[in-house]
Amino acid sequence: MPSPLTPILLLLLLTTTATAATSQDSDLESDCTNRWIHIRHLPPEFNLDLLTNCSEYPLFDNFCPYISNHGLGQKTHNSSHSWYRTDPFMLELIFHRRMFEYPCLTSDPDLADAVYIPYYAGIDSLKYLFGPEVNSSFRHGLDFFHYLAHLDTPSIWNKNLGHDHFLVMARPAWDFSQPLSNDPPIFGTSFLELPEFYNVTALTFEARAYPWQEQAIPYPTSFHPPNLAFFESWLNRVRKSRRSTLMLFAGGGGISANPNVRRSIRLECDNVTNMNTNGTGYSKFCEFLDCSNGVCEHDPIKFMKPMLQSSFCLQPPGDTPTSRSTFDGILAGCIPVFFEELSVKRQYGWHLPESEYDEFSVFIQKEDVVFKGVRILDVLMSIPRSEVRRKREKVLEMIGRVMYRKHGSSLGLRSKKDAFDIAIEVTLQRIKSRKQQLADQR
Ligand SMILES: *[C@@H]1O[C@H](CO)[C@@H](O)[C@H](O)[C@H]1NC(C)=O
Ligand SMILES: *[C@@H]1O[C@H](CO)[C@@H](O)[C@H](O)[C@H]1NC(C)=O
Ligand SMILES: *[C@@H]1O[C@H](CO)[C@@H](O)[C@H](O)[C@H]1NC(C)=O
Ligand SMILES: *[C@@H]1O[C@H](CO)[C@@H](O)[C@H](O)[C@H]1NC(C)=O
Ligand SMILES: *[C@@H]1O[C@H](CO)[C@@H](O)[C@H](O)[C@H]1NC(C)=O
Ligand SMILES: *[C@@H]1O[C@H](CO)[C@@H](O)[C@H](O)[C@H]1NC(C)=O
Repeated sequence: MPSPLTPILLLLLLTTTATAATSQDSDLESDCTNRWIHIRHLPPEFNLDLLTNCSEYPLFDNFCPYISNHGLGQKTHNSSHSWYRTDPFMLELIFHRRMFEYPCLTSDPDLADAVYIPYYAGIDSLKYLFGPEVNSSFRHGLDFFHYLAHLDTPSIWNKNLGHDHFLVMARPAWDFSQPLSNDPPIFGTSFLELPEFYNVTALTFEARAYPWQEQAIPYPTSFHPPNLAFFESWLNRVRKSRRSTLMLFAGGGGISANPNVRRSIRLECDNVTNMNTNGTGYSKFCEFLDCSNGVCEHDPIKFMKPMLQSSFCLQPPGDTPTSRSTFDGILAGCIPVFFEELSVKRQYGWHLPESEYDEFSVFIQKEDVVFKGVRILDVLMSIPRSEVRRKREKVLEMIGRVMYRKHGSSLGLRSKKDAFDIAIEVTLQRIKSRKQQLADQR
């Protein structure tokens, strides 16, 4: 295992590349009106220092290998330009690095429309979730709040009482939503339950059903192209790929005897595998790629190939309704099949407009599959070819919006909005309306 960058080296890289990037970017989108962002200065205990313990959580993977390349992880191969062994929990680092390229940064908090807090909240939560402080997880965020609102230039917080602050928390919001009254906690910290942080916008992988603070943004995939040519050549490959499998399930679970949608998928997949596909245009109806125990997680080749060869990718809920796999599938041009509304429709509205879900995905109610004998195969085979083609075109259009391009990428690619750009753009709009509400109250 390679050792992670030392925090100091990482910090140097962050600051030096930042200056280069901002000056280069200044003419890209010259109008910064309403778009100024101030990055709050934090002591390293709230971000870089947290990386030094990357191998010290016995109940959690050693995440040292995934820190490299500013959180993209190592390249899949030495010759690879766009593909990395990315761990989604590293989005806090990826975001931090990309922030330095943002063209409208200001060092003056008074000029800022929004304030980014480069706190690695998810990584800091590991000591509560999997570490020695498991019994004091209600404390997550308290010292940090004290720093933000009292120790360091309190006027930055007080100007808008935190309504203009935002941060990334690279885990599902459930992991931070433990009621303060649960003592000892079941699982999760109470960060999002603390009144101290009610006013802050948190970007998470999954939001609760009726959230106030958080907004779900895409999980990072392993694809981080450095320029337009690599991005377009991938799109071409996806468009031309021969999809000889009707449906793919890449995941784990479904082994228990209790009825649940993963189990139904497993059984149906076994059952239809030997069915005659003559005349259907497919050579296989179903492929079940066993990704149990995280075997696929950092090995994108394992699942990207089958996804490229499949027409539909089944995206059942797992421990939580959403998963990274949804975005891997979109990246491969594989039409997602959802089984639960919370899986995406009520989540990723900023990146995948709610009105367009029917145009790029298929929805089958999970109860229909588990209890009413609806066969997924029959539903998918009944969709006319022309509609399948239209859906796939729509999925292809989404690729650029849900991927996180590589930091320092070429100007051509920067002119397209990726997941980061969209997250920032809508965060700014949201903060603007929050501040307006606050001003009306005052
Ligand atoms: C890292 O772990 C050591 C002991 O395992 C602990 O003393 C130290 O406070 C931890 N550092 C951080 C930044 O969490
Ligand atoms: C990849 O590059 C690293 C360092 O640049 C080198 O140590 C390693 O041997 C290379 N691996 C292959 C398979 O070429
Ligand atoms: C947390 O609390 C439980 C029950 O109160 C106890 O068994 C456990 O040892 C505690 N864990 C730590 C790390 O203190
Ligand atoms: C959050 O904003 C409300 C007003 O909208 C304010 O009353 C409250 O004190 C703020 N919370 C913090 C922790 O600043
Ligand atoms: C397998 O398919 C046959 C029809 O092809 C059906 O009768 C049977 O119920 C199916 N079994 C399961 C477990 O889905
Ligand atoms: C599929 O069709 C081919 C001819 O198109 C035929 O030779 C073959 O026997 C058929 N297979 C099955 C299983 O029906």
